[in-house]
Amino acid sequence: MFQQTGLAGNFTLPGSSLNVNRVGYGAMQLAGREGSKLVWGPPRDVDGAIALLQEAVASGVNHIDTADFYGPYVTNQILRKALSPYREGLVIVTKVGALRGEDGSWLPAFSREELTAAVHSNLRNLGLDVLDVVNLRIMFDVSQPAEGSIEAPLTVLAELQQKGLIRHIGLSNVTPTQIAEARRIVAIACVQNHYNLAHRVDDALIEKLAQDGIAYVPFFPLGGFSPLQSDALSNVASLLNATPMQVALAWLLQRSPNILVIPGTSSLQHLRENLQVATLQIPAEVRATLDAMVN
Ligand SMILES: NC(=O)c1ccc[n+]([C@@H]2O[C@H](COP(=O)([O-])OP(=O)(O)OC[C@H]3O[C@@H](n4cnc5c(N)ncnc54)[C@H](OP(=O)(O)O)[C@@H]3O)[C@@H](O)[C@H]2O)c1
Repeated sequence: MFQQTGLAGNFTLPGSSLNVNRVGYGAMQLAGREGSKLVWGPPRDVDGAIALLQEAVASGVNHIDTADFYGPYVTNQILRKALSPYREGLVIVTKVGALRGEDGSWLPAFSREELTAAVHSNLRNLGLDVLDVVNLRIMFDVSQPAEGSIEAPLTVLAELQQKGLIRHIGLSNVTPTQIAEARRIVAIACVQNHYNLAHRVDDALIEKLAQDGIAYVPFFPLGGFSPLQSDALSNVASLLNATPMQVALAWLLQRSPNILVIPGTSSLQHLRENLQVATLQIPAEVRATLDAMVN
C-alpha cells in the first residue's frame, strides 16, 4: 500500500482517488506578520513566496495545506497566483471553522452561515469550483482539542459536500471521541492535530487511524512558532549528517505510514532541506534516543 518512491512514498486518502506524496507543504508561514499579529497581512517578499510554491510543486510536492484565515485570505491568494491553473494531481487542503479578529486573534466561526461563507470564500480565493479536502477546525479551545459535540457544524459541511462544493472532509484539533462521532456522520479522510517529537498526546490515536487507513497530518511538525530544540536532537542530527529539522521530519515519516508531513517555511533553503528528508533513514537504536525526547 505504501510505495517508497517520490517524496517518502505516497498515501491515498481513504474513499478517494487522491494520492499524495508523504512530504507536503504547509502554507501558513507564507503570510506576513504585523507587530504581535502573527500570520497576518502579506509577506515581505510576495515574489519570493510565489517562487517557493512553484519550486515546491516542481519538486514533487502535491499536498499543500492552507486556510482562508491565514493572512486572512493572503495565503490562498498567493497560492492561486503561483499555481493556478493547478497541476493535475495537486491536492489543496483547506480549513474552515475559524475567523480572524482585528487584533489578530483566532475566533470560532461555526454557524451554518459562517461555514457556508468560508467554503465559498476559499473557492473564490483559490480560484476553484470544488475544494479537494476541507478540514473542520474545531475551536472549543483554540490551542488544544477539547470535548464537545461537533455534529452540527459537521452536518453543514456534509451538506456542502453533497452539493458538490467539497470532495472530502477532514478534522482538525479534535479528540478521539469527536472523530468517532464524526465518522458516524460522514467519511473522514484525514485528521490534522498538533504532534511532533516533543508533543505526543496523539500516539494511540495515530495507531487507530493507521488501522482505519485515515491520514494523520501533524501540524507544528517542527514545533511551529517555537521550533524544536534539544541537545538530543542536535546530537542525533550531527550523527546522521543532517539538520535537527530534517531529523524531526524523518522521525515523523518513520513513526507511522499514515503520517503525512506539511512542514511550513518561507525560506527556499529550508524548503529544499525539508524535501530531502525522504531519503533520511534513522537507525532503530538512534530512534530510541529520539523516542525518549518527550517534553
Ligand atoms: N490545523 C491547525 O490548527 C494548524 C495549526 C498550525 C499550523 N497548521 C498547518 O501546519 C503547517 C505546519 O505548521 P507550521 O508551519 O505552523 O510549523 P512547523 O512546520 O512546525 O514550523 C515552521 C517553522 O519552522 C521553520 N523551519 C521550517 N523548515 C525549517 C528548516 N529546514 N530549518 C530550520 N527552520 C525551519 C520555519 O521558519 P522559516 O520560515 O524561516 O523556514 C517556521 O518558523 C502550517 O504551515 C499550516 O499549514 C495547521
